[in-house]
Amino acid sequence: MIEIRNLTKHFGNLTAVKDVSFSARKGEVLGFLGPNGAGKSTTMKMVTGFLTPSSGTAMVDGFDVQKDPLQVKSRIGYLPEGAPLYGDMTPLSMLKFVAEVRGIPAGERNGRIADVVGKVHIEGVLDQRIDTLSKGFKRRVGLAQALVHDPEVLILDEPTDGLDPNQKHDVRQLIREMAQEKCIVLSTHILEEVPAVCTRAILIADGALKFDGTPLEMQLMSRRHNAVALTVRAGGGHDIAALSRIEGVDAVDQVDAANGFESFLLYPKDDVAILAPLSRVAHENNWEVEHLSVEKGRLDEVFRQITSTGA
Ligand SMILES: Nc1ncnc2c1ncn2[C@@H]1O[C@H](COP(=O)(O)OP(=O)(O)O)[C@@H](O)[C@H]1O
Ligand SMILES: [Mg+2]
Repeated sequence: MIEIRNLTKHFGNLTAVKDVSFSARKGEVLGFLGPNGAGKSTTMKMVTGFLTPSSGTAMVDGFDVQKDPLQVKSRIGYLPEGAPLYGDMTPLSMLKFVAEVRGIPAGERNGRIADVVGKVHIEGVLDQRIDTLSKGFKRRVGLAQALVHDPEVLILDEPTDGLDPNQKHDVRQLIREMAQEKCIVLSTHILEEVPAVCTRAILIADGALKFDGTPLEMQLMSRRHNAVALTVRAGGGHDIAALSRIEGVDAVDQVDAANGFESFLLYPKDDVAILAPLSRVAHENNWEVEHLSVEKGRLDEVFRQITSTGA
């Protein structure tokens, strides 16, 4: 549905997006990750036709956004950064306006509006001025306007930004519900969102693509993947030197010491399993083990690793 090739955008001397290529299919929820200023919004604006690329192409459903902008725009629902709305309109009047602008035939407008209003649950506020609505309701109205024409492609720029945990949960739920029949690209810097809603993740930093893969593949890149967390009663002779000598252990960090217990994180060499040798050593030395678990890896660590070293 989306095919982006060598997309680049210069703003004067600044290259906000550098030679970015990726594609996305129907049924995919693509998480577009990166620190603030990485170029996420700029990329989305080029895909949706709001900004002209300096070079490269963006195709949606086979149409080039520069050659066939109307064909592209008719297939896309777009929630821009900050979800701007017309504050002095009501959700109902704004949705009627958007439905008309989107070219939905007059006889079908009310049906389409009722459908999206039900999807985003804004039945109770349809006649209230938008600028008096809570942030959560405003975001839902923003989503409703992106959905009115039932687009095949949804581009959502930080759809959960600034929402409370319940509102975030609702928006993620809605995205998951729509995922099968659409191609969804959403930007976020909230990493917990990635395994929760995305089937794939793309990471950009300084305008350049750094990673493209599944959330699981991203987790596997974490130094903590297959690391072992150990908490043991103090005084059993289990110091860092002793732990480091265990077969397969590359490095050891002491992470905590409290209430007579000490906690360590043991990193494996080349991802090897170190739980068994560690258990054996603990048993042989009669260490009083309080906690032992294998770590899955942390996305925040990979995010920092990739975006700070320029790897
Ligand atoms: N219209 C513009 N003019 C000049 N610089 C811009 C413009 N829009 C964005 N930028 C710059 O481009 C970079 C990428 O911005 P943006 O795409 O908004 O990042 P993100 O959405 O990942 O936070 C930033 O350094 C930003 O300041
Ligand atoms: Mg942005």
